[in-house]
Amino acid sequence: MAQKTLPRLEINGLEKTYSTSGKGRKKVLNGISMTLTPGLYGILGPNGAGKSTLIGIITGGLIPDAGQVLWNGRSARGIQFRRILGYAPQQQSLYANYTGRKFLAYLAALKEIPRKNAASEVSRVAEAVNLEKELDKRLAAYSGGMKQRLLVASALLGDPKLLILDEPTAGLDPKERVRLRNLLSEMAKERIILVATHVVSDVETVANQVILLRSGQVVDIAPVPTLIERYAPGKGLEDVYLRIFGEEDGK
Ligand SMILES: Nc1ncnc2c1ncn2[C@@H]1O[C@H](COP(=O)(O)OP(=O)(O)OP(=O)(O)O)[C@@H](O)[C@H]1O
Ligand SMILES: [Mg+2]
Repeated sequence: MAQKTLPRLEINGLEKTYSTSGKGRKKVLNGISMTLTPGLYGILGPNGAGKSTLIGIITGGLIPDAGQVLWNGRSARGIQFRRILGYAPQQQSLYANYTGRKFLAYLAALKEIPRKNAASEVSRVAEAVNLEKELDKRLAAYSGGMKQRLLVASALLGDPKLLILDEPTAGLDPKERVRLRNLLSEMAKERIILVATHVVSDVETVANQVILLRSGQVVDIAPVPTLIERYAPGKGLEDVYLRIFGEEDGK
């Protein structure tokens, strides 16, 4: 019997250069390639390593200078790709006057979720991040962690096959951090989930693979036990991080 082919995200030779204040140009992605199938992937790297730039290119907001992103073998562009993508950017200003419910309903409409399903879908994603009781408050009254969880909830709308979260645990208290970690771990059984972070504990116990990114280059991609064996035998992922990134910053 023919096996159903797994969803696949391929990243081939991505390069990106920014011009810096008129003077020079700075290469922030320097030939990134990887292939992802369902599972939870952590992108770990210091500030400025290029995590958000890589995510910006995958999600279509940034154009690479070279290379390509393929979803199931086809260019990851256009409406078909947007339908399977859920994305929570690192920073986003939210409409202070909206309630949480209105914000999610608005994004559900942008995602073309049919009207008849929208209300239940909004409840479903709010419940996933433990915000169902806060949905009728205005966002101006949300705490930082509540806003962050709302952003994650918005990325879950429409049950995307590819979920990309940029620093999703920023500002979350330990209870909500663990809750999100468990949610992502459960979801990753059937989906491709990519999480950028510099919080080692966000990915150490749940990531199927960790992508170590430094100065726009992939240092290594491997399961946590393999990375520990390679870089810090008998220790933990934090020691791997320190061994590879040490005191340097990502630039
Ligand atoms: N629009 C831009 N113009 C010029 N330089 C930029 C721009 N965006 C990012 N950079 C630079 O590109 C490099 C990579 O930035 P990026 O935001 O991708 O890093 P990051 O790994 O996400 O860092 P962080 O952990 O701080 O979120 C940094 O040196 C940054 O200063
Ligand atoms: Mg970033």
